[in-house]
Amino acid sequence: MDFSIWTEKYRPKKLRDVINQKHVVERLKSFVKESRIPHMIFAGPPGTGKTCCAIAIAREVFGNNWQQNFQETNASDMRGIDVVRTRIKNFSRIKPIGESFKIIFLDEADALTSDAQNALRRLMEMYSDVTRFILSCNYSSRIISPIQSRGVVFRFKSLSKENVFEYMKRIVKGEKLKIDKEALDTIHLISGGDLRKATNILQASAILGKKITKKTIYEVAAQAEPKEITDMINNALNGKFLEAREILKGLLLKKGISGQDLIKEISNQLYKLDISDKDKIGLVEKVGEFEFRLNQGGNEQLQLEALLSQFALYKK
Ligand SMILES: Nc1ncnc2c1ncn2[C@@H]1O[C@H](COP(=O)(O)OP(=O)(O)OP(=O)(O)O)[C@@H](O)[C@H]1O
Ligand SMILES: [Mg+2]
Repeated sequence: MDFSIWTEKYRPKKLRDVINQKHVVERLKSFVKESRIPHMIFAGPPGTGKTCCAIAIAREVFGNNWQQNFQETNASDMRGIDVVRTRIKNFSRIKPIGESFKIIFLDEADALTSDAQNALRRLMEMYSDVTRFILSCNYSSRIISPIQSRGVVFRFKSLSKENVFEYMKRIVKGEKLKIDKEALDTIHLISGGDLRKATNILQASAILGKKITKKTIYEVAAQAEPKEITDMINNALNGKFLEAREILKGLLLKKGISGQDLIKEISNQLYKLDISDKDKIGLVEKVGEFEFRLNQGGNEQLQLEALLSQFALYKK
């Protein structure tokens, strides 16, 4: 059996293999062509290709030397100014190997405190002849403006259903899996367009067998199938509180789904229920209230049962 991690195995090696993000990739390609890389900020949702693009650039610019001239550091492990003053500074000063510059890729740069970002900004100025920085973040607004103005900001878009399908199909082909449309839809639904999440779900469910179905996906993703949640809600709305409670217990205790995930799915489904808009609004408010209680550390089963009893008040 092959134990490689698919998120690494299928990571694009070239910019042209990056899915979507055309507006970003086209400009990156022209930088690579001229071998003129500026400092850059990659902003966008998780699992949309920021790290991919940084690595692909390094491979294309440095060829075989890429690993010596590319350093990846995750800022969230070490948010403070010390890391910038020591580790990042030390690497910034080093001369590139066989190239005119090297690349430092700073993941989750928005986790750096503003002091740390200011120190980083000075490094960007001092060593810009030998070092280019690529900062990755979810929100560019969390990067101080002096850094933003020293670099080029690229915005990565969240990926569409077609994009997720395209990437899943690469893996399905590579791993000789079988998957149907329903299962693909489910992966897209759970991943929310995050390709890392989608890949991990696919790999986990492939352990159960080469044939990937909606059912195996929900098993490994430890999420409730929306239908079970619909049944639970409908039971509650129809005044069958005990039945609703049994389904709830199965989801929490047997399937090990977290109360937070359940509440999230309940709120997704609220809008589709066959009740009046006025009732929906009342229930949205209740869901919000119980979500808060769970966040405050309330007991999951108790709180969710209490929420279901609220649904019973809105009997159809
Ligand atoms: N646009 C894309 N094209 C091809 N593969 C992608 C793309 N986006 C993500 N992936 C795949 O998803 C996984 C995660 O991608 P990547 O590390 O680039 O995400 P990221 O945007 O850096 O996310 P994070 O913000 O969480 O660091 C990798 O396995 C990668 O192959
Ligand atoms: Mg990343």
